[in-house]
Amino acid sequence: MKLTLLTAAATALIGTVSAFPSFQNADSPQYAEFLKQAAAIKSNGKSSALWKRDGNLETPDNGFGQRRLTALLNPANFKYNAKEQHVDLTSDEHKFIAPGPNDIRGPCPGLNLLANHGYLDRSGVTNLAQGIDAINKVFGVEYDLALALNAYAVVFNGNLLDLSWSIGGPPKSKGLGALTEILLGQPSGINAHNIYEGDASIVRQDYYAPGANRDNVEVHMPYFKDLLKLGKNDQTPGKDIYNAELMLQHKANRWHESVATNPLFFNSAFGGLVVTTAAERFVAEFAANNTADANGYNRIYLDEPNLLAFFSVVRNKDGSLTYTPGHERLLESWVRRPLASTFGLDDIVLTLLNAASIDPSLLSVGGNTGKVNSFAGVDAGDITGGAVHTADLLNDPQALACFLFQAGIEELVPTQVNVLYKSTAQALDFIGKNLKTPFQKLATAGNNPCNKYSTKAVDAYSRFPGSKIETNGKEGLLGSLVNALAGGKRRLSRNF
Ligand code: HEM
Repeated sequence: MKLTLLTAAATALIGTVSAFPSFQNADSPQYAEFLKQAAAIKSNGKSSALWKRDGNLETPDNGFGQRRLTALLNPANFKYNAKEQHVDLTSDEHKFIAPGPNDIRGPCPGLNLLANHGYLDRSGVTNLAQGIDAINKVFGVEYDLALALNAYAVVFNGNLLDLSWSIGGPPKSKGLGALTEILLGQPSGINAHNIYEGDASIVRQDYYAPGANRDNVEVHMPYFKDLLKLGKNDQTPGKDIYNAELMLQHKANRWHESVATNPLFFNSAFGGLVVTTAAERFVAEFAANNTADANGYNRIYLDEPNLLAFFSVVRNKDGSLTYTPGHERLLESWVRRPLASTFGLDDIVLTLLNAASIDPSLLSVGGNTGKVNSFAGVDAGDITGGAVHTADLLNDPQALACFLFQAGIEELVPTQVNVLYKSTAQALDFIGKNLKTPFQKLATAGNNPCNKYSTKAVDAYSRFPGSKIETNGKEGLLGSLVNALAGGKRRLSRNF
């Protein structure tokens, strides 16, 4: 299955933790322990006063109060500081400039707009340092998450030698030079399906969906209109409509739509759980504007005008909508979240639990088996030798952090390295330093069962035809591609 098991476990959990998904009031000991550990990591051992104001926040249901579901470092805990939170969006260096014919744009609205505002190279080819700096400075992405997102792009979609990577398809002008000695083929860019990019995206189609023509990059307006409909098509400026709860509900709707329409729907632990579910939350947290509440504290909100700009959509005078590919932007009135209120890897783990409380299917790894509505999930117990069960993942953020680390990084990474690299030593060394470290720190922070098992996620993926990737002119399921491309040197080392 084990969707039924998952559903039952989630229902039980929701029943016992009445305030869930608002983590501030969650009363499970594991939940509290995870918060303590995450807070200690965030503050280098000094975990004081992270939630000091949460008890007194005004949260009226009119869309003009403070949010109920927030990040661990709640933006509402900090005084609004217009000067500190200002982001330059108008100077010659950072004003919006539409991409030219040779500039690359891709499926990520956040990266597209950073390139359109000159925080990433306007060509659409960036690098590790610039990518980390841009998402930290403009959006407040915490260093651990910024590093993980960028490192993954470098090693699986980019150039490991100069640390550059493309925010869309393959870079056009860069010579490969010495890279040809270690890489099989050429860097793909983040568009490549089932490497980084996954199914049931917010407003993009599934790569293998019938009729999608393998377009996983452009906004599919029917999905965008579904999102607006969920927000009751409310156009009131300043109103917080597209908050985390709404975006996760949209994710749940998209998930079921993909199961019902795409015979090759596939939800992996990294691309499915971490990337596309987190992306929904990214909209609520990072596309959002910020202002002062009546007491001078920060109020984060996402209204329709800011949402449209973020997704490169314009509402015309007659009410119709026009999408222009690659023109994502931030409005000149946009202000970032408070500097201290960063959003990190721990928030991704909590986001997944929040998502599961809205719809437990969202925590299922697996896919359709070649027909629509044939979704089969992988039970955590099956791929951890019974050490961790799905119910544990729903009940314990530390177990979930550990599972994500093993199934999404530790197990998958060496396999993908073998698919993409002729010579794997450099890639494994880079991953060890830049990708494994931040994830592992969080995963092993508490008394979680991380050391007691090793997942076998990749073997389980081979059951799903939609786990197919296309690389270097070959296509195949992840597991069999490893054999085909790597021949005798197949190695699933865990010591990277
Ligand atoms: C280095 C940093 C980042 C990388 C490598 C990255 C990569 C990606 C990739 C590969 C996708 C496609 C996933 C899919 O199939 O749905 C994606 C989607 C998305 N990303 Fe990013 N991203 C980054 C940072 C950000 C940031 C900072 C934001 C928000 C400001 C953001 C917002 C989104 C959203 C909203 C989507 C979903 C788009 C849709 O489905 O319509 N990303 N990103």
